[in-house]
Amino acid sequence: MTRLQAVPDLPGVRLHLADDVAVTAHLAAEELGQSDPGLPFWAFAWVGGLGLARYIAEHPDEVAGRRVVDVGSGSGLCAIVAAQAGAGSVRAFDIDPLAEASVALNARSNRVHVGFARSDPLSAPPPVCDVILAGDVCYEQTMGTRVIEWLRVAAWRGTRVLIGDPGRRYLPAGLERLATYRVQTTLELENATEKETSVFTIPSAPATASGASRQADESVRAGEIRVRLRDGNVRALDVRDDDAALRSLALRAAELAIR
Ligand SMILES: C[S@@+](CC[C@H](N)C(=O)[O-])C[C@H]1O[C@@H](n2cnc3c(N)ncnc32)[C@H](O)[C@@H]1O
Repeated sequence: MTRLQAVPDLPGVRLHLADDVAVTAHLAAEELGQSDPGLPFWAFAWVGGLGLARYIAEHPDEVAGRRVVDVGSGSGLCAIVAAQAGAGSVRAFDIDPLAEASVALNARSNRVHVGFARSDPLSAPPPVCDVILAGDVCYEQTMGTRVIEWLRVAAWRGTRVLIGDPGRRYLPAGLERLATYRVQTTLELENATEKETSVFTIPSAPATASGASRQADESVRAGEIRVRLRDGNVRALDVRDDDAALRSLALRAAELAIR
């Protein structure tokens, strides 16, 4: 179903990848006892992840000695490159049970250690770590919206967030672009054999000039935002709140306060 192969433009990285989506999806569904085969994300290196992995390989200082989390890890590509670049520790998060096996196999083939967590990371506040990698995670509405909100919380807490994305439908506007690459892909996954993809970050707090906006900026840095309600009362909203609705409101309030 998969074969160990070199990854284009990433010398020293080899992954167990599939050549045929349909056959792999069918075999994976059989293995999991499912009737409806989902996309075997873990069996391919996605365009967004390929660009992010190249960025990490070219900028090892982004991860060296740091605690790194790779969310939506799939094959483990970005996690593995971070480990090779000297990360202090690397943990991969993915909800697909076959991603766990894929990350373990690929980490072993590249002689690096990558931890794995299978529970849905987006149902909890972002983990304590220095860097979060997110390769090609904005491909679907629910996942895209949830993961970006979660990454914003992480960034506002001071975690370095690196997103690799070729401009998928649910990638929001306004992210800070760090680099752009052309990467090789396959007609099995995309409508081209080569695609442009970029690496973005979410600034820990937007640069602001003065007065009220600076106050909002500082409040966001502290992970908290205060809003004045119509009745004149001031209410503190916390972007780290465990309640998704309150967290969302806090994020929105922070955005409005900073504009
Ligand atoms: C398009 S793949 C990208 C894989 C890899 N980062 C790459 O670029 O090759 C997206 C991955 O996100 C995972 N995913 C979807 N929802 C998730 C969630 N709530 N938490 C963690 N991972 C999730 C999928 O299982 C899949 O492996």
